[in-house]
Amino acid sequence: MIKEGELYSGKAKTVYGTDNPEKLIMEFRDSLTAFNGKKKSEVPKKGYYNAQIAAKLLGLLEENGIKTHFDSMLSGNEMVVDAVEIIKIEVIVRNIAAGSLVKKYPFKTGEKLDPPIILFDYKSDEHGDPMINDDIALALHLASKDELTEIRKMALKINSILLKYLDEKGILLPDFKLEFGRYHGKIVLADEISCDTCRFWDKITGESLDKDVFRFDKGDLAAAYREVAKRIVPGINL
Ligand code: TMP
Repeated sequence: MIKEGELYSGKAKTVYGTDNPEKLIMEFRDSLTAFNGKKKSEVPKKGYYNAQIAAKLLGLLEENGIKTHFDSMLSGNEMVVDAVEIIKIEVIVRNIAAGSLVKKYPFKTGEKLDPPIILFDYKSDEHGDPMINDDIALALHLASKDELTEIRKMALKINSILLKYLDEKGILLPDFKLEFGRYHGKIVLADEISCDTCRFWDKITGESLDKDVFRFDKGDLAAAYREVAKRIVPGINL
């Protein structure tokens, strides 16, 4: 596979074309931002840890019957993925109250949410990723009714698989963000699942092992990401 020109550069990843029109390369960078880009930093090896964690979790989901865009790893921080058409909805799954849910509604941090809550945000930096409902998603032509139903069903299945797997590694999953795409007429899981896009809490200490370390200045980000990588990626070179 030949890596071609840059197609898109986001806040933490850059996407490149390849000589195969069906495949793209997603490079996980060491940069990170929070609060819609207002807070910025660069942390050595962050891209590598996230890429390795995402590869492991996307692979786990594939093994459990979830179609994803994951193809293979080209290097430590470069992932080959199917060239899906991204649906501009950020799907948030919540199992334990935290973050913006606690800010906006009368939930207490740490409160269990059973059944899990699924929320949709419109993926648009310009509009600050506002929360939407099905009617807005349909009116904006972001997805069809059937696609929204399928996305919700897949998000719940992904949640069950991740909860069980991470629990065995001593990690709680309060919430996470998913993105989906269209590929040959089917909905597939796209983007990443990593310390940037999930809340991971140590099951014993409750300590954050995710981007909240950066958002809220809770300590050493690389150490937190390394810990997750160590627990879930067998044999990883740390
Ligand atoms: P929130 O509590 O800040 O709304 O975040 C909910 C989850 O979504 C959390 O696991 C982090 C993830 N997330 C992203 O992946 N990207 C984002 O831009 C934001 C705000 C949250």
